[in-house]
Amino acid sequence: MEDSLSVVAITGNLGTRLIGRRVLYFPSLTSTMDIARQEVRQGAAEGTVIVAYKQTAGRGRLKRAWLSPEGSIALSVILYPRVAHLSSLIMLASLAVVHSIGAVTSLRPQIKWPNDVLINGRKVCGILIESDVRGDMVNYVVIGIGININLQVADFPEISPVATSLSEELGRQVSRLNVLRSLLVELDRLYLALSGGGSLYEEWRDNLVTLGKRVRATTGDSIHEGIAESVDRDGSLRLRGPDGSLTRIVVGDVTLRE
Ligand code: BTN
Repeated sequence: MEDSLSVVAITGNLGTRLIGRRVLYFPSLTSTMDIARQEVRQGAAEGTVIVAYKQTAGRGRLKRAWLSPEGSIALSVILYPRVAHLSSLIMLASLAVVHSIGAVTSLRPQIKWPNDVLINGRKVCGILIESDVRGDMVNYVVIGIGININLQVADFPEISPVATSLSEELGRQVSRLNVLRSLLVELDRLYLALSGGGSLYEEWRDNLVTLGKRVRATTGDSIHEGIAESVDRDGSLRLRGPDGSLTRIVVGDVTLRE
């Protein structure tokens, strides 16, 4: 499949108003998050996107590593949002991924709280949000997105029990360029909707595979087990414990138990 990434191929006739108006492309780098931070320090415009063919030191949530071999997509987007919109960015990023995969393929991904994207119960995309916020002042937000497009997860034993890729689900190669362009369009559309006062909460909640399931939630050093009952508008998860107690999880990770 003809799938070469370049700035011209990514941005040509993209039609976005903010996200992707400036794209930096690197065949290989440590982490798109590192370059994004450097760009922020140099005053990069909002909507600047850093794309890598391959990362050598990709970062995941909760200080984990993120594998970014050839065949995946790694990108970071620089934003300067209002503080009121911070908690919606998790929803924005995961919904944009769900929409773009749905636009380019017949697959129907779901979201595992807070923002993993799954297909048939396996992770196809991870999202990392890093920010510098002081009080009500947002200095910057970088949204990092990694999607497994054309890779055989069996080649990567460290992720193969829990991960999948678009090519694996479809039994054919998928254009990384089409997924990437569609993703930028969706990110742009949702970010403008959010900035214009729209809400992403209902759609994000309705796409969560987590709700109603028995889960184990890890937050800091604590582990909670129970039924994932609901999510609040700020994105936090409400977990009903076996003793009937309700715990609110703001930051953490969940494992589905059934
Ligand atoms: C996770 O699920 O733990 C989040 C993974 C986020 C990976 C992406 S790939 C692009 C960007 N650069 C990184 O180093 N990490 C994010």
